[in-house]
Amino acid sequence: MKPIAALKKVYQELSEFKFPRVWIILFFIVPIVGLVNLIVFLSITGQQTLVWPYEYPENGITLGMVLFILGFSIFSIDIAIGGIAMYIFHKTGKIFPRIRFDFEKLSMKFIGILLIAGSVTLSYFNVTLFHYTYYDAGPYLTWDNDQATSDAITVCWHSALPQGSVVEYGTTPDNLDQYAATDEFGRYHKVPLEDLNPSTRYYYRVNNQNFGIKSFLTGPAEGTFDAEFSFIMYADPRTNNGINAITDPDDPHQENLPDYIMDRTITDGTDIAFSVIAGDIVGTGPSYDSWSLWLNDISTKDFASNHSHVVAIGNHEHHDDPQIINMHKYYPQTDYTYSITYGQMYILMLDLYDYEAGEWKDVNFPQDVKDKAASELAAHSHYPFKIISAHQSPINYGEFSTGGHHGNISTEVFDLCDTYDVDFYFCGHSHHYEVWNYTDTVYMMAGIGGNTNRKTWNYAGESTDVTDNGGTHLDSGEWESGWIQVDVTADQMNIETYLVNGTIASSITIEKN
Ligand SMILES: [Fe+2]
Ligand SMILES: [Fe+2]
Repeated sequence: MKPIAALKKVYQELSEFKFPRVWIILFFIVPIVGLVNLIVFLSITGQQTLVWPYEYPENGITLGMVLFILGFSIFSIDIAIGGIAMYIFHKTGKIFPRIRFDFEKLSMKFIGILLIAGSVTLSYFNVTLFHYTYYDAGPYLTWDNDQATSDAITVCWHSALPQGSVVEYGTTPDNLDQYAATDEFGRYHKVPLEDLNPSTRYYYRVNNQNFGIKSFLTGPAEGTFDAEFSFIMYADPRTNNGINAITDPDDPHQENLPDYIMDRTITDGTDIAFSVIAGDIVGTGPSYDSWSLWLNDISTKDFASNHSHVVAIGNHEHHDDPQIINMHKYYPQTDYTYSITYGQMYILMLDLYDYEAGEWKDVNFPQDVKDKAASELAAHSHYPFKIISAHQSPINYGEFSTGGHHGNISTEVFDLCDTYDVDFYFCGHSHHYEVWNYTDTVYMMAGIGGNTNRKTWNYAGESTDVTDNGGTHLDSGEWESGWIQVDVTADQMNIETYLVNGTIASSITIEKN
């Protein structure tokens, strides 16, 4: 039989056949819904980077989900086509003359139920994906690699629908007479504002968004070494947990720190200059839901809408996305080993991920990062106060990190801090609180920024710990979520640990003559 004649025959058979309703659902509607769902799913995920393999933690879209969805859709379509074909073959009796295929059999109804279940599951994934893909969030401020805090800033936001990137700004809220734009058209927006005046408040508005008018204060002119300001540091926020915080927003152990920080600083009358977050800001690089929650968290009470923030990247931003393709969509920096200066303060962020080996576990301090860090620190040696912020700690439970969870980084970190007189090293990664003084640098690990599995650790004295090497144990043991506020004057830096229960857990003062 010629192909056209065969198609005619199929058409004839189909048009003659009166389908009972359940068969119509089974063979046509369910696969069509499945197919539509699949197209929607692929078009949404096509806009985000899916990085293989999906393994840990089980957040966002996992490999299992993708395989399930693909498998089920193909299965649905197969069954439908197969069913129709079988019916036709049965009726014509040309190919399988002896097979009597009974559509009323229970097995077919069972397959029908399976198909419907598959389609409902697909719809569920799509609704969730849709929710965490098409949303407006922000604005949030940061400094790009080459921006000075005294005269530039980058305004970022996420838009539900693709749009242009335009920001209007000015020095009074009722006269936003300047504008900045990039040719970025899409859902991720990062617009740099340049040539600003130091120590000046600017007001800005994102075009075609309902965020309202926000504002920020530029940093002191470069070379100003007697500024007075406060800034915030924390690590390992609740978004580190991925979707947990979304499914159970009232969990008291998953505090959104910006909410608490803003309440506290407003009560205290402190206008924070900026913040530094030492990594693990999302569950995994490709977790849509995590990023959405993060952007909403940092926009809470204008935390990052009115004050710039920088990230010392963590391992979770690299999780399932070793090249941090997604991080680059949400943040403008091309290099996560970079520094900022603010008045008399110099802060160096380190990205200790080994991009060559693509491994996080047992990571060695990468040589190129060390070279860059050394030259950066040398170039800023005249700054009175110096901070390094990275995700991992050179000291963990009182022991030097020479491998394992924090990697083999302690030798290089101590060398950098000692050689270049770094005052303070701030990090997280382990979800507990631990502070040491070693070779005149304060090392603070404060992975207590809102994640669920933070734990208490009280220093009991060990035989082979930092104290044996001339270090001093300063503090440990906090279990509540908390953040650090650093108050800076011309000759003093005061590091205070605030807990969400309202107490100040500890206070460390570093003085300069
Ligand atoms: Fe973490
Ligand atoms: Fe971590």
